[in-house]
Amino acid sequence: MSSNTAGQVIRCKAAVAWEAGKPLEIEEVEVAPPQKSEVRLKILFTSLCHTDVYFWEAKGQTPLFPRIFGHEAGGIVESVGEGVTDLKPGDHVLPVFTGECQQCRHCKSEESNMCDLLRINTDRGVMIHDGQTRFSKDGKPIYHFVGTSTFSEYTVVHSGCVAKIDPQAPLDKVCVLSCGISTGLGATLNVAKPTKGSTVAIFGLGAVGLAAAEGARIAGASRVIGIDLNPSRFNDAKKFGVTEFVNPKDYDKPVQQVIAEMTDGGVDRSVECTGNVNAMISAFECVHDGWGVAVLVGVPNKDDAFKTHPMNLLNERTLKGTFFGNYKPKTDLPSVVGKYMNKELELEKFITHQVPFSEINKAFEYMLKGEGLRCMITMEH
Ligand SMILES: NC(=O)c1ccc[n+]([C@@H]2O[C@H](COP(=O)([O-])OP(=O)(O)OC[C@H]3O[C@@H](n4cnc5c(N)ncnc54)[C@H](O)[C@@H]3O)[C@@H](O)[C@H]2O)c1
Ligand SMILES: [Zn+2]
Ligand SMILES: [Zn+2]
Repeated sequence: MSSNTAGQVIRCKAAVAWEAGKPLEIEEVEVAPPQKSEVRLKILFTSLCHTDVYFWEAKGQTPLFPRIFGHEAGGIVESVGEGVTDLKPGDHVLPVFTGECQQCRHCKSEESNMCDLLRINTDRGVMIHDGQTRFSKDGKPIYHFVGTSTFSEYTVVHSGCVAKIDPQAPLDKVCVLSCGISTGLGATLNVAKPTKGSTVAIFGLGAVGLAAAEGARIAGASRVIGIDLNPSRFNDAKKFGVTEFVNPKDYDKPVQQVIAEMTDGGVDRSVECTGNVNAMISAFECVHDGWGVAVLVGVPNKDDAFKTHPMNLLNERTLKGTFFGNYKPKTDLPSVVGKYMNKELELEKFITHQVPFSEINKAFEYMLKGEGLRCMITMEH
């Protein structure tokens, strides 16, 4: 793809959030060219994640408007800024809300994906390079969201937040790997690491929890116990390899005790994907002593505190947490896409709704009603 728009301002459609909680409006905006270490992407598909909805509602966070949300997407590089050597126009990419500068101590560590420079920052609405926005309307700035702002036909992203992927991969499917699905999948495959035949408990059967269950299925777990307060979640969960369902509300004893009784002392691994601190404690206390590992994924409330008797740790249970499933976006996402391409990983079952970009507000409605898992939004260039 030769790019005759390189170096120019692009005028295109974007879904702008003018105010907290008000429907997005499709506007014609200006997108400035990428600056040092940045790339401009043509977005082809984008999907909606809970985090977009939380920050759009702006309850409890510092509101920053007007803003362009969106952080799960698939696109093509339109042009690159100064100093970008690993990406070129035409590359197929997934933008990611966290990045990999490939130079800091975290990026150089095999154990961490928490880049010092490009780690998620939900308060920043501007580019790191010059503290300015690349979006404007009639000369007035429109803020970015988590460095991605994919609810726009074109967006500018730091090159460290862009994973170059197999150009054969269908962007309308692998798009969901930009956030939630990789998070749950990686929590199981990279952090909990269940062995073949083991028993895994998954707390919370939303998109993230079901992706964790998909990881357990891929790892060859023999029993996957899904725990959720919402019984309607179980039907869908069966498609993701969840073999048994526990609703804590059906018992008058703690759910960790229910699980210990079901599994002769506890599960081998558990993955918490609820954001509820009590579920986090249960997820830890339901693993078997001697070898059990629990992984926390859910984002807790501001004042939550995790409380457990230290004996639970002394008895050789391990508690871990993860950010983005411990995947390094640039280094690791291409191989996750590879898992989809070789049919090890199934993504179709996560995509329950589709809308054209002009109807993006419907995606918000589905999520607010708790309907489905992912809504695929098709850009209409
Ligand atoms: N660590 C990370 O990098 C990362 C990345 C993305 C999302 N997340 C977090 O993962 C969590 C799950 O995201 P999601 O999009 O799947 O959310 P979701 O709301 O779709 O699903 C959460 C599920 O948990 C269930 N639940 C709530 N409290 C429960 C409890 N006490 N016991 C059992 N089940 C309970 C709900 O009924 C719901 O079905 C959220 O907290 C989200 O913020 C973390
Ligand atoms: Zn997300
Ligand atoms: Zn780094």
